[in-house]
Amino acid sequence: MLRRLSPIQPASFEFTPANLEWAQAQITKFPEGRQQSAIIAVLWRAQEQEGWLTRPAIEYCASLLGMAYMRALEVATFYFMFQLYPVGSVANIQICGTTTCMICGAEDLVRICKEKIAATPHTLSEDGRFSWEEVECLGLAPMRRSSRSARTSTRTSPPRSCPS
Ligand code: FES
Repeated sequence: MLRRLSPIQPASFEFTPANLEWAQAQITKFPEGRQQSAIIAVLWRAQEQEGWLTRPAIEYCASLLGMAYMRALEVATFYFMFQLYPVGSVANIQICGTTTCMICGAEDLVRICKEKIAATPHTLSEDGRFSWEEVECLGLAPMRRSSRSARTSTRTSPPRSCPS
C-alpha cells in the first residue's frame, strides 16, 4: 500500500524544549555512529507533539539525527503507526484491507466508516473527532484498530470472529 504525505502541510516544526531534551536523551542511548537508530522514537515523539507526522517534522527529526530526509521518510511511510494525515481528536480507525480481512467483512467496516465518519479516508469527520483509513495486515484477521489519538495509546481488537 502506497503511503503518501498529506498535501496540506504546516510551514515548520520544532520540538518543544521538553521534547527536545527528551529526544537528545534518547539519542545518547545509542553508540557513537549509530544515533540514527533513534529515528522511530524521535518521529513518534514528534507525532505525539503535533497529533500527526508532518513533512517539516520528518525533516526536523532527520536533521536532528544527521540523516538524509529520504531515510527518515522511508521509516515514516513504512510503519502504519505514523499518521501522515491529520487524525480525529478522539479516534482514528484503521481497517485492514488485506484479502483475508476483506473476506471476513472489512468492507462492511469501511462502509460504516464512510457513512459515519467521512466518505473518503484521511478525512476528518465534521466535528473533527474521528477519521479512518485502510491499512495492510495488522497481524490478526479480521482486524480494525482504533487509536484514541496519536497522543495516546493504541488499542487493537478484531471486530468479530471469522471462520477459518
Ligand atoms: S489480513 Fe487483516 S490483519 Fe492480517
